[in-house]
Amino acid sequence: MSNVSAAPSRFYFGSDHAGRELKEILLAHAKNRGLAVEDLGTHTDASVDYPDYAEKVAREVVADPGSLGVLVCGTGIGMSIAANKIHGARAALLYNASTARLARQHNNANIIAMGGREIAPDQAITWFDIFVATVFEGGRHGRRLEKVARLEGS
Ligand code: RB5
Repeated sequence: MSNVSAAPSRFYFGSDHAGRELKEILLAHAKNRGLAVEDLGTHTDASVDYPDYAEKVAREVVADPGSLGVLVCGTGIGMSIAANKIHGARAALLYNASTARLARQHNNANIIAMGGREIAPDQAITWFDIFVATVFEGGRHGRRLEKVARLEGS
């Protein structure tokens, strides 16, 4: 797996009801930055099931190389578990600024998951910006990700 240096081409956003508010804050921030975004829902406060949105975002990201996904539920946990069931998805649950950087630098995550009930909007925005600004390091991390990819077929 080689270094990824190109800027992300597009961002796919998704949330359940518990993550909708933070998803919309992040979406507005990304739009203000001039990034290409697509909002795959949910769009209301009605209770919905997070796997449906994790699947939508993960399928779009995998089908659109160079794009990234942003998933928000109450904790970010359900979204990351569900998204990682899709072949080719590498979803990382962020819990601080360091994991926002390492998710990209070491894990080449193509999706980030965050907890709308757990983190403040300004933290989430900072972590999003760090993730977007970071480049995959490749090398030994590429070898490890090749091993991770092999697990998908096992
Ligand atoms: C919804 O209440 C909540 O369970 C969901 O948003 C998420 O936190 C699951 O991981």
